[in-house]
Amino acid sequence: MGTPIQLAYLAAAVLFILGLRNLSSAKTAPLGNQLAAAGMAVAIIATLIGQGIVGWGVILAGVVVGSSIGAVLARRIEMTAMPQMVALLNGFGGGASALVASAELLRIEPAMAGEVANSVKSWAIVLSTLIGAVTASGSVIAFAKLQELMRGAPITYPGQQYGNAIIGVGVFVLCAMIALDPTRITAFTILVGIALVLGILLVIPIGGADMPVVISLLNSYSGLAACSTGFVLGNASLVISGSLVGASGLILTKIMCDAMNRSLPNVLFSAFGAQPESAGGGGEDQGVAKAYTPDDAAVIFSNATSCIVVPGYGMAVAQAQHAVRELSDLLESKGVNVQFAIHPVAGRMPGHMNVLLAEADVAYDKLIEMDDINPQFPETDVALILGANDVVNPSARHDESSPIFGMPILDVDYAKNVFVIKRSMNPGFAGVQNPLFFHDNTMMIFGDAKKVVLSLVDAVKNY
Ligand code: TAP
Repeated sequence: MGTPIQLAYLAAAVLFILGLRNLSSAKTAPLGNQLAAAGMAVAIIATLIGQGIVGWGVILAGVVVGSSIGAVLARRIEMTAMPQMVALLNGFGGGASALVASAELLRIEPAMAGEVANSVKSWAIVLSTLIGAVTASGSVIAFAKLQELMRGAPITYPGQQYGNAIIGVGVFVLCAMIALDPTRITAFTILVGIALVLGILLVIPIGGADMPVVISLLNSYSGLAACSTGFVLGNASLVISGSLVGASGLILTKIMCDAMNRSLPNVLFSAFGAQPESAGGGGEDQGVAKAYTPDDAAVIFSNATSCIVVPGYGMAVAQAQHAVRELSDLLESKGVNVQFAIHPVAGRMPGHMNVLLAEADVAYDKLIEMDDINPQFPETDVALILGANDVVNPSARHDESSPIFGMPILDVDYAKNVFVIKRSMNPGFAGVQNPLFFHDNTMMIFGDAKKVVLSLVDAVKNY
């Protein structure tokens, strides 16, 4: 491969790294996206010029069809459906790697088989195929669970883990057989089939609430598959970009597990969310929750000097971010110090709340991370919970029988007054009732988050 092509790949890799670097802050994230997209364009053009694998007609047709589908999906998909969209894209990435690796295996002439046997290339082919196929089918199941095309609850059966372990061992034996003799096409076909089944079996026992963690892990797998395909094709750019995706997906997975105080094996193997009815139904008698109106809340706001808004999944569903920005501006004009508490797993995807609040032009310095804001709650006049539930559930702190015991939460119950805006007494994603709603200092304002916040704006204005 010529030096200009290698230099182009190097430039693409630098752009990917700078892109990731800029994605680490909300302010520079748009620039990060553009840099990474530019890097991808450079890599694609260099590959097209450098290799000439297929005809230009096929490539152009692929670009037109792929870009059209991508553009329609990007415009149509709701923000709340983004996790399943990412799941599907991961699946496509894994599937693509598996297909490219399979094509490379089929291209090996019998006369060349001895040379390829037990080489980096043959091992890379089986790894790409294995990881890519597991990612593809696992991602489809993750998509189906989140899109509610199938039951979100964990699907478990006796001997499940042992069964998966035996299949896993079988898969590695097959991989070794093929890597040592790449002419074994039947074994390769069986490997593809079993890897697809394994992807399904690994994801079905995981509950819907843990799906974002699984998607991040599958994202990492799709990166590893692409990296391995880079070795198959001898494409440095693919090796680098695949490694970046693999590493960043793993880091994100760890951040999410830490935020829920769970280990990765616990997420993958504990069938979280399959707890008995008594743990999650919310039927236990916890007392009486007090229902307030926005007018009642305006009275309390008139005496407040500080307010912490705690957004959650309900804010995303109601698209209440612009209304809450209006309320925040109004309260600040009346001398109330307003901040936003960001829980790392509030909503349904990493950074969900940051993205929505940035879209509504809430200043970045008003968004305070959990560890920094928690000490402030006892001094705060009003904690305004906007469609959040699990991330403010105090049983995570002290109730060892709760499925979310140990998950770090926002300490809203220590605030002087707590308003909870949600539509009903229904539990959140983890399916557990929230004792916060029955505390003496908690006032429920029932209704759609956007409508309630707009009524609050009127009530505060008119008070
Ligand atoms: P949830 O616990 O899911 O609670 C959201 C609440 O919003 C619900 O109780 C619901 O109550 C309310 N709601 C829904 N639509 C509403 C609307 N239109 N207006 C007002 N309220 C509405 O949300 P959370 O506190 O953000 O917690 C996130 C959960 O997802 C956690 O369990 C977390 O572990 C899990 N999770 C998240 C991630 C990421 S990366 N974010 C990853 C893994 C797991 P009503 O139905 O009564 O309105």
